[in-house]
Amino acid sequence: MAVSHAWQFAERTRAGAGDGIAAILGLLGNPDLISFAGGFPDPRTFPRDRVAELVREVDANAFQYAPTQGLAGTRDAVAGRLGRERRPDEGELMITSGGIEALELVSKSFLDRGDAVVVEAPTYLGAIMAFRSFEAEVHAVPIDDDGLEVDALAALLERGVRPKLLYTIPEHQNPGGVLLAAERRAALVELARRYGFLIVEDVAYRELTFDGAPPESLWSMAPDVVVQAGTTSKTFFPGVRLGWAAGPAEVIAQLVSAKQNTDQCSGALGQTLYEAYVRRGWIDEQLAASRALYARKAALLLDALRSSMPAGVMWTTPRGGFFTWLTLPVDATDFARRAADVGVAVVPGALFYPDGRGENNVRISFSMVDESLIATGVERLASLLD
Ligand SMILES: Cc1ncc(COP(=O)(O)O)c(C=O)c1O
Repeated sequence: MAVSHAWQFAERTRAGAGDGIAAILGLLGNPDLISFAGGFPDPRTFPRDRVAELVREVDANAFQYAPTQGLAGTRDAVAGRLGRERRPDEGELMITSGGIEALELVSKSFLDRGDAVVVEAPTYLGAIMAFRSFEAEVHAVPIDDDGLEVDALAALLERGVRPKLLYTIPEHQNPGGVLLAAERRAALVELARRYGFLIVEDVAYRELTFDGAPPESLWSMAPDVVVQAGTTSKTFFPGVRLGWAAGPAEVIAQLVSAKQNTDQCSGALGQTLYEAYVRRGWIDEQLAASRALYARKAALLLDALRSSMPAGVMWTTPRGGFFTWLTLPVDATDFARRAADVGVAVVPGALFYPDGRGENNVRISFSMVDESLIATGVERLASLLD
C-alpha cells in the first residue's frame, strides 16, 4: 500500500515557480489545437541531415567530458561570431547548457534571499522563475514599443530600489515582440554604471532579426557592466541545450565555479556539432532561411490581425523573433480558455508578469504554427470578441 508523505520541500520552492510553464505545456499537449502558445522553433529549421553527417565525422573528444567553461574550439567559434561586434577576451566567455542555465548561474552567483532584481515586464517566464527560485524580490519596469522604459527604471532607482541585477531581452522581446531603441541602450548602460548593477542581456532572438542588423548589443557597448546570455536553441535546435555567457572576467569565473556543481560541463557532443556547423558556414545559411521563414509567418499573422480583429484590439509589430503581444478589451485568461474551446491556443498575459498584471494581454507566437492555419486561427480568435 502506498504511504503518503508530507515531504519537507525547501522554502524556496514555495515561490510558485513552475506552474506557469506546466500550464503552457499542458495547452500544447492537444495536437488538434491551432497553437499560438509555445515559443518553440519550427521543426522545419532543424538541420537533421547536416547534423547526421557531422555525427559521423566527430572524434572521441565529442563523447568525453568537457572543461566547465566549454571546449576551447567551441568557445573560439562562439567568440568569432560575437567578434563581429566585439571579440570576448579569454576568460570573458563560457559555454552553458542553454540560455536558461546562464540565467540560473547568474542568479546562483549573485542572489541572496530578498535581493532586488529588476525585470522589464512583461518578460520571459523562465527568467522570473530563475530569480524567484533564489528568493529574490522581483521588481517590474514597463515596456513600450521601444522596449524597456528606461525613464521608469531611473525613477525606480531614484526612489531607492537598489537592484543587483537588471534583466532585459533587447531584441524581439519575449513576449512583447519589441526592440530596445539604441538611445535607450546608452541610457541603460549609464544607469548601470551610476548605480552599480549588472545588466543581464538575453539575446535569444537577436540573430533572428528579419531585416538588417539590430542596434549594438549592450554587452558590446559596455562589457564592464553587462553579462550576455545567449542560446543556440532558436537558431540551431533546442534539443542540443547549448548557449553562452559573455561578461566581465571576474563574473564569468564565478559563473564557471557555480556550474561546477550544477552540470559540471555542457555536453561535448552538442558543443562539437555546433562548432562544426559554424565553421562550415552552415549557421549563416540556416539563419538566412530561418529569418525568411519567421518573417513570412509574422507578415501572415499581422495581415490576419489587421483584417480580422475588431476595433479596440492592439498588437505589437515584431521586426524579428517569434512573438506579438495583444491588448484586448476583455479578460485575457477567460479569453484564452474560450480560445481553447474553439481550437486555438494562446497564452494569457499574466504569466509574463511578476506581479499579476497583463490581465488584458495575450502572447501570440507565430514560430511553430503552420502557415496555412494562421488566418483561420486569427479569425477564430476575432470571433470571440464580436
Ligand atoms: C528570452 C528567452 N531566453 C531564454 C530562453 C531559453 O533558451 P534555452 O532553450 O537556451 O534555455 C527562451 C526560450 O523560450 C527565451 O524566450
